[in-house]
Amino acid sequence: MKGVVLAGGLGSRLRPLTRVTNKHLLPVYDKPMIFYPIQTLVDAGVTEIMIVTGGNNAGEFLRLIGNGEEFGLRHMNYTYQKNEGGIAEALALTKHFVGDDKVVVILGDNFVQGSIKKAVEDFHAQPSGGKIFLKEVDNPKEFGVAVVEDGKVANIIEKPEDPPTNYAVIGIYMYDNDVFNICETLKPSDRGELEITDVNNEYIRRGTMTYEFIDGWWADCGSFEALLRSNILVARERGVEL
Ligand code: G1P
Repeated sequence: MKGVVLAGGLGSRLRPLTRVTNKHLLPVYDKPMIFYPIQTLVDAGVTEIMIVTGGNNAGEFLRLIGNGEEFGLRHMNYTYQKNEGGIAEALALTKHFVGDDKVVVILGDNFVQGSIKKAVEDFHAQPSGGKIFLKEVDNPKEFGVAVVEDGKVANIIEKPEDPPTNYAVIGIYMYDNDVFNICETLKPSDRGELEITDVNNEYIRRGTMTYEFIDGWWADCGSFEALLRSNILVARERGVEL
Protein backbone atom coordinates (compact mmCIF):
# COMPACT_ATOMS: atom_id res chain seq x y z
CA MET A 1 0.00 0.00 0.00
CA LYS A 2 1.38 3.40 -0.99
CA GLY A 3 0.64 6.57 0.95
CA VAL A 4 -0.05 10.03 -0.46
CA VAL A 5 -0.20 13.28 1.54
CA LEU A 6 -1.83 16.17 -0.30
CA ALA A 7 -0.32 19.51 0.65
CA GLY A 8 -0.91 21.84 -2.27
CA GLY A 9 -3.40 24.65 -2.68
CA LEU A 10 -3.28 28.29 -1.73
CA GLY A 11 -5.09 28.01 1.61
CA SER A 12 -7.07 31.07 0.59
CA ARG A 13 -9.56 30.72 3.47
CA LEU A 14 -6.63 31.19 5.90
CA ARG A 15 -5.22 34.43 4.48
CA PRO A 16 -3.22 36.35 5.65
CA LEU A 17 -1.67 33.34 7.47
CA THR A 18 -1.07 31.72 4.09
CA ARG A 19 -0.06 34.82 2.12
CA VAL A 20 3.63 33.92 2.19
CA THR A 21 3.62 30.28 3.20
CA ASN A 22 1.86 27.00 2.51
CA LYS A 23 -1.02 26.13 4.84
CA HIS A 24 0.46 22.73 5.67
CA LEU A 25 3.61 24.35 7.10
CA LEU A 26 1.63 26.34 9.69
CA PRO A 27 1.99 25.25 13.32
CA VAL A 28 -0.46 22.98 15.05
CA TYR A 29 0.58 23.06 18.71
CA ASP A 30 4.27 22.07 18.61
CA LYS A 31 4.69 20.75 15.06
CA PRO A 32 4.12 21.83 11.48
CA MET A 33 0.67 20.72 10.32
CA ILE A 34 1.94 18.19 7.78
CA PHE A 35 3.77 16.17 10.44
CA TYR A 36 0.46 14.79 11.75
CA PRO A 37 -0.87 13.15 8.57
CA ILE A 38 2.59 11.72 7.81
CA GLN A 39 2.65 10.21 11.32
CA THR A 40 -0.86 8.79 10.82
CA LEU A 41 0.34 6.94 7.71
CA VAL A 42 3.54 5.71 9.35
CA ASP A 43 1.60 4.50 12.41
CA ALA A 44 -0.67 2.56 10.03
CA GLY A 45 2.36 0.76 8.61
CA VAL A 46 2.47 2.80 5.37
CA THR A 47 6.10 3.71 4.76
CA GLU A 48 6.27 4.46 1.03
CA ILE A 49 4.90 7.98 0.97
CA MET A 50 4.64 10.76 -1.60
CA ILE A 51 3.88 14.38 -0.69
CA VAL A 52 2.10 16.42 -3.35
CA THR A 53 2.81 20.08 -2.81
CA GLY A 54 2.31 23.26 -4.78
CA GLY A 55 1.55 26.93 -4.37
CA ASN A 56 3.75 28.96 -2.04
CA ASN A 57 7.02 27.68 -0.63
CA ALA A 58 6.80 24.22 -2.16
CA GLY A 59 10.57 23.81 -1.73
CA GLU A 60 10.31 24.26 2.04
CA PHE A 61 8.78 20.79 2.40
CA LEU A 62 12.09 19.28 1.34
CA ARG A 63 13.98 21.40 3.89
CA LEU A 64 11.49 20.52 6.60
CA ILE A 65 10.98 16.80 6.02
CA GLY A 66 13.97 15.68 3.96
CA ASN A 67 13.89 11.91 3.70
CA GLY A 68 11.55 11.56 6.65
CA GLU A 69 14.20 10.38 9.15
CA GLU A 70 12.17 11.91 11.98
CA PHE A 71 9.38 9.48 11.14
CA GLY A 72 11.72 6.50 10.90
CA LEU A 73 11.59 6.57 7.09
CA ARG A 74 14.52 6.05 4.77
CA HIS A 75 13.14 8.00 1.87
CA MET A 76 10.41 10.52 1.09
CA ASN A 77 8.93 11.16 -2.37
CA TYR A 78 7.73 14.54 -3.59
CA THR A 79 5.82 15.85 -6.55
CA TYR A 80 4.56 19.26 -7.56
CA GLN A 81 1.02 20.40 -8.40
CA LYS A 82 1.33 23.38 -10.67
CA ASN A 83 -2.33 24.40 -10.77
CA GLU A 84 -5.13 24.71 -8.25
CA GLY A 85 -7.03 21.84 -9.81
CA GLY A 86 -8.35 20.11 -6.71
CA ILE A 87 -7.76 16.97 -4.69
CA ALA A 88 -8.40 14.52 -7.53
CA GLU A 89 -5.99 16.43 -9.81
CA ALA A 90 -3.32 16.22 -7.10
CA LEU A 91 -3.93 12.51 -6.62
CA ALA A 92 -3.63 11.89 -10.38
CA LEU A 93 -0.07 13.26 -10.21
CA THR A 94 0.99 10.27 -8.09
CA LYS A 95 0.10 7.65 -10.70
CA HIS A 96 3.73 6.83 -11.54
CA PHE A 97 4.59 6.53 -7.83
CA VAL A 98 1.65 4.27 -6.89
CA GLY A 99 2.32 1.99 -9.86
CA ASP A 100 0.18 -1.18 -9.61
CA ASP A 101 -0.39 -0.79 -5.88
CA LYS A 102 -3.35 0.41 -3.80
CA VAL A 103 -3.16 3.84 -2.23
CA VAL A 104 -4.20 5.58 0.98
CA VAL A 105 -4.61 9.31 0.49
CA ILE A 106 -4.64 11.78 3.37
CA LEU A 107 -5.28 15.49 3.14
CA GLY A 108 -2.37 17.37 4.68
CA ASP A 109 -4.69 19.37 6.94
CA ASN A 110 -6.63 16.44 8.39
CA PHE A 111 -6.01 15.04 11.88
CA VAL A 112 -7.35 11.93 13.52
CA GLN A 113 -6.96 11.06 17.16
CA GLY A 114 -7.03 7.31 16.68
CA SER A 115 -5.18 4.88 14.46
CA ILE A 116 -6.26 3.89 10.94
CA LYS A 117 -4.05 0.76 10.98
CA LYS A 118 -6.91 -1.75 11.21
CA ALA A 119 -8.85 -0.02 8.40
CA VAL A 120 -5.75 0.02 6.18
CA GLU A 121 -5.28 -3.71 6.82
CA ASP A 122 -8.97 -4.34 6.07
CA PHE A 123 -8.67 -2.43 2.82
CA HIS A 124 -5.54 -4.37 1.91
CA ALA A 125 -7.70 -7.50 2.13
CA GLN A 126 -10.61 -5.90 0.19
CA PRO A 127 -10.44 -7.29 -3.36
CA SER A 128 -11.11 -3.97 -5.11
CA GLY A 129 -12.83 -0.61 -4.80
CA GLY A 130 -12.43 2.13 -2.24
CA LYS A 131 -12.90 2.84 1.44
CA ILE A 132 -13.82 6.08 3.20
CA PHE A 133 -14.22 7.23 6.79
CA LEU A 134 -17.22 9.07 8.19
CA LYS A 135 -17.62 11.23 11.27
CA GLU A 136 -20.74 12.83 12.75
CA VAL A 137 -20.32 16.60 12.83
CA ASP A 138 -22.36 19.65 13.83
CA ASN A 139 -21.46 21.60 10.66
CA PRO A 140 -21.97 19.16 7.73
CA LYS A 141 -22.43 21.99 5.19
CA GLU A 142 -18.63 22.50 5.24
CA PHE A 143 -17.78 18.98 4.06
CA GLY A 144 -18.61 16.14 1.74
CA VAL A 145 -21.72 14.57 3.32
CA ALA A 146 -22.62 10.87 3.02
CA VAL A 147 -26.04 9.28 2.75
CA VAL A 148 -25.97 5.76 4.22
CA GLU A 149 -28.68 3.25 3.27
CA ASP A 150 -28.84 -0.45 4.17
CA GLY A 151 -25.31 -0.43 5.53
CA LYS A 152 -23.82 1.10 2.38
CA VAL A 153 -22.92 4.62 1.34
CA ALA A 154 -25.56 5.51 -1.24
CA ASN A 155 -24.30 8.97 -2.23
CA ILE A 156 -21.93 11.77 -1.24
CA ILE A 157 -22.84 15.42 -1.71
CA GLU A 158 -20.05 18.01 -1.63
CA LYS A 159 -20.80 20.87 0.78
CA PRO A 160 -24.61 20.63 0.51
CA GLU A 161 -26.83 23.63 1.24
CA ASP A 162 -29.29 21.32 2.93
CA PRO A 163 -27.32 18.34 4.32
CA PRO A 164 -29.31 15.09 4.30
CA THR A 165 -27.26 13.70 7.23
CA ASN A 166 -24.51 14.95 9.54
CA TYR A 167 -22.02 12.31 8.37
CA ALA A 168 -18.94 14.16 7.10
CA VAL A 169 -16.59 12.32 4.74
CA ILE A 170 -13.19 12.91 6.29
CA GLY A 171 -10.04 13.54 4.30
CA ILE A 172 -8.59 10.02 4.34
CA TYR A 173 -9.43 7.85 1.34
CA MET A 174 -8.31 4.40 0.20
CA TYR A 175 -8.46 3.29 -3.41
CA ASP A 176 -7.51 0.47 -5.69
CA ASN A 177 -5.41 1.18 -8.75
CA ASP A 178 -8.40 2.00 -10.91
CA VAL A 179 -8.62 5.38 -9.19
CA PHE A 180 -6.24 6.79 -11.80
CA ASN A 181 -8.57 5.78 -14.62
CA ILE A 182 -11.47 7.37 -12.75
CA CYS A 183 -9.52 10.61 -12.26
CA GLU A 184 -9.05 10.84 -16.04
CA THR A 185 -12.82 10.84 -16.59
CA LEU A 186 -13.60 13.72 -14.20
CA LYS A 187 -14.84 17.13 -15.24
CA PRO A 188 -14.15 20.27 -13.17
CA SER A 189 -16.87 21.21 -10.69
CA ASP A 190 -18.44 24.66 -10.28
CA ARG A 191 -15.44 25.68 -8.16
CA GLY A 192 -13.17 24.67 -11.06
CA GLU A 193 -11.69 21.62 -9.30
CA LEU A 194 -11.55 17.88 -9.94
CA GLU A 195 -13.51 16.74 -6.89
CA ILE A 196 -12.58 13.73 -4.79
CA THR A 197 -16.31 13.41 -4.09
CA ASP A 198 -16.83 12.57 -7.79
CA VAL A 199 -14.20 9.82 -7.49
CA ASN A 200 -15.96 8.45 -4.41
CA ASN A 201 -19.37 8.56 -6.08
CA GLU A 202 -18.00 6.51 -8.99
CA TYR A 203 -16.90 3.77 -6.58
CA ILE A 204 -20.34 3.96 -4.93
CA ARG A 205 -21.96 3.58 -8.35
CA ARG A 206 -19.84 0.48 -8.95
CA GLY A 207 -20.92 -0.94 -5.58
CA THR A 208 -17.33 -1.30 -4.35
CA MET A 209 -17.09 1.50 -1.79
CA THR A 210 -16.87 0.48 1.86
CA TYR A 211 -16.87 2.82 4.85
CA GLU A 212 -16.43 3.02 8.56
CA PHE A 213 -16.99 5.60 11.26
CA ILE A 214 -13.73 6.91 12.66
CA ASP A 215 -13.12 6.56 16.41
CA GLY A 216 -12.00 9.54 18.46
CA TRP A 217 -11.91 13.11 17.28
CA TRP A 218 -11.28 14.28 13.73
CA ALA A 219 -10.28 17.78 12.75
CA ASP A 220 -9.24 19.66 9.65
CA CYS A 221 -7.73 23.11 9.24
CA GLY A 222 -9.80 24.61 6.46
CA SER A 223 -10.85 27.71 8.41
CA PHE A 224 -9.53 29.81 11.32
CA GLU A 225 -11.96 28.10 13.69
CA ALA A 226 -10.94 24.64 12.48
CA LEU A 227 -7.23 25.50 12.77
CA LEU A 228 -7.70 26.78 16.32
CA ARG A 229 -9.75 23.72 17.25
CA SER A 230 -7.02 21.42 15.86
CA ASN A 231 -4.40 23.21 17.96
CA ILE A 232 -6.53 22.82 21.10
CA LEU A 233 -7.33 19.16 20.47
CA VAL A 234 -3.68 18.28 19.83
CA ALA A 235 -2.45 20.26 22.85
CA ARG A 236 -5.04 18.60 25.14
CA GLU A 237 -3.98 15.23 23.76
CA ARG A 238 -0.49 16.01 25.08
CA GLY A 239 -1.91 16.80 28.50
CA VAL A 240 -1.57 20.58 28.17
CA GLU A 241 -4.05 22.47 30.33
CA LEU A 242 -5.46 25.49 28.51
C1 G1P B 1 -12.34 18.44 1.13
C2 G1P B 1 -13.34 17.51 0.45
C3 G1P B 1 -14.52 17.24 1.38
C4 G1P B 1 -14.04 16.71 2.72
C5 G1P B 1 -13.01 17.68 3.34
C6 G1P B 1 -12.38 17.07 4.59
O1 G1P B 1 -12.89 19.71 1.22
O2 G1P B 1 -13.74 18.08 -0.78
O3 G1P B 1 -15.39 16.30 0.77
O4 G1P B 1 -15.15 16.53 3.59
O5 G1P B 1 -11.96 17.95 2.41
O6 G1P B 1 -11.45 17.94 5.18
P1 G1P B 1 -11.97 21.05 1.06
O7 G1P B 1 -11.32 21.24 2.40
O8 G1P B 1 -10.99 20.78 -0.02
O9 G1P B 1 -12.91 22.15 0.72
